[in-house]
Amino acid sequence: MSTLTHRPRRLRRRAGVRALVREARLAPENLILPLFACPGEGVRREVSSMPGVFNLSVDWVARESAAAFEAGVPAVILFGLPESKDETATGAYAERGIVQEAIRAVRREVPDMVVIADTCLCEYTSHGHCGVIRGGEVLNDESLELLARTAVSQAEAGADIVAPSAMMDGQVGAIREALDEAGLEHVAIMSYAVKYASAFYGPFREAADSAPAFGDRRAYQMDAANAREAMREAELDVMEGADFLMVKPAVAYLDILRQVRDRFDLPLAAYHVSGEYAMIKAAARLGWMDEKRAMLETLTSIKRAGADVILTYYAVEAARELRGR
Ligand code: PBG
Repeated sequence: MSTLTHRPRRLRRRAGVRALVREARLAPENLILPLFACPGEGVRREVSSMPGVFNLSVDWVARESAAAFEAGVPAVILFGLPESKDETATGAYAERGIVQEAIRAVRREVPDMVVIADTCLCEYTSHGHCGVIRGGEVLNDESLELLARTAVSQAEAGADIVAPSAMMDGQVGAIREALDEAGLEHVAIMSYAVKYASAFYGPFREAADSAPAFGDRRAYQMDAANAREAMREAELDVMEGADFLMVKPAVAYLDILRQVRDRFDLPLAAYHVSGEYAMIKAAARLGWMDEKRAMLETLTSIKRAGADVILTYYAVEAARELRGR
């Protein structure tokens, strides 16, 4: 006769039972695919540190968006590699800028896709920092004006959501005010509220050609050791009018995701960043891990930690996997 009363294994015996009691559910409709728009036509150039990720000319951005939508991914976030860069990031808020053109193309080709624009200056500045520079310092308030202009031009091009990622103080408030003044009060703000200075952005900086020419981003992005400060950043953005909060990176900051989830009621996004993607890719290529399982387990952990939506370079692969192809 059995002496054990509690046998959790009863609920793990068969796939059907496991599915029945599954807590965190990953779904294609919660995934956002990042895409990198570059000049030219017919360009689809793979990023060497991010296999499966490409610099895409605008025609290809539209095509890949359509494929993603077809696979069940409802949203893209667009980044841009401009023709030329300067001190004041002119390309970020140009009416015919690369991201603005990419937004229009996706709008036109895939009308039901949710179009999100990353609002930052680092891809457009000659020095690669996320704001205006004077005397070696990234100026806060002067940068707000350019970020607000960038957000308005992205919204005018048709973005549903703008996503400020520069980590300038007051950026959400400045952008909200500028959007409202321009009659764009229907455009939402997904704030990169809690963004850490991270080594895991390495591959992205190759993809977006946005590595800082000098120094690093520690004077504006957060210190990895700080959790209480993350709550303060989130709170400020709630007060400034954010519609979504984001924590970034995701995997190395699951504890932060959980804490933000528990403290705030806004929809919460997590960015599974380039380095976190590249690690799985690299290990899989070496034959050290099963890529699909590692992908799904990682994305599930982000969901379990409290994210409602996940930005991931794996969005299409994960969606196809979840739908059983
Ligand atoms: C722009 C921005 C970055 C990322 C998203 N928006 C780079 C950075 O802050 O250096 C990183 C995304 C990734 O690594 O996948 N500021």
